[in-house]
Amino acid sequence: MERKGIILAGGQGTRLHPSTISVSKQLMPVFDKPMIYYPLSVLMTAGIKDILIITTPHDQNAFKHLLQDGKRWGINIEYAVQPSPDGLAQALIIAEGFLNGAPSALILGDNLFFGIPFTQSILKANQRKNGATIFGYEVKNPSDYGVVGFDGNGNVKSIIEKPLTPASNYAVTGLYFYDKYASKYAKQVKPSMRGELEITALNEIYLKAGQLNVELLKSGTTWLDTGTHRSLLQAAQFVSVIEERQGKRICCPEVIAYENKWINRTQLANLAKSLEISGYGKYLFKVLARRQT
Ligand code: G1P
Repeated sequence: MERKGIILAGGQGTRLHPSTISVSKQLMPVFDKPMIYYPLSVLMTAGIKDILIITTPHDQNAFKHLLQDGKRWGINIEYAVQPSPDGLAQALIIAEGFLNGAPSALILGDNLFFGIPFTQSILKANQRKNGATIFGYEVKNPSDYGVVGFDGNGNVKSIIEKPLTPASNYAVTGLYFYDKYASKYAKQVKPSMRGELEITALNEIYLKAGQLNVELLKSGTTWLDTGTHRSLLQAAQFVSVIEERQGKRICCPEVIAYENKWINRTQLANLAKSLEISGYGKYLFKVLARRQT
């Protein structure tokens, strides 16, 4: 069965209040496009066409307005709600019916990834049929994240959620590839001290079963989260610098769909036309002009 994607875009975005009181955090712009375009681009780059978007009940309509059913991008988008922020692992339980026994890739709606080495890593993870794959990324502030601990041979020994004394500088990023058992295992997870079904607890189940692969993301990969005003601004600056320097926009679902041959030139031209007034639409026309096939 083909792997299916899940984007978890729930939560109250409390650290960004008052900006996120009436707008979902994952719909806020990161420079020239809504935040959710970035995780959506990751799934599409991995070749995943069937995607479930999990939101709060009150934000669902806004996501539907933006993303619709995905057909215009050659993909299928479905929606589900997480009534209260009860933890990331709950996404796998909510998605059980949608997955229907398929392996999955779960990505957090506020994570931004970029880089050729990253694309290679996710394509490799997508090939793996058994177990789970998570991605480690070296950061200065590991205590803010799930952290991977290694034994003397470089094998993964532990994953600890927001440890006070981190075992390494490798944070676990918000992208997780699972085999078909993830929903079943997620139901075994007990709420943590903060009352949430932690994704780290689900990953620990895979670790104990000897079924957890940790890919360390190579330098040349950028991973940013966008949970605070400062990190959101930095992410926007990053996208702006890269795009201006190269004259190319990054993480545009329309372009990925076209490159994957999920839509043809006429379809891309129609998408460009619908956004003609914005620089984004003009860029889509530029992509068409640059490539003749
Ligand atoms: C969550 C996970 C954490 C992971 C992080 C990545 O943290 O619990 O393990 O490292 O996402 O963004 P949260 O964003 O809920 O604090």
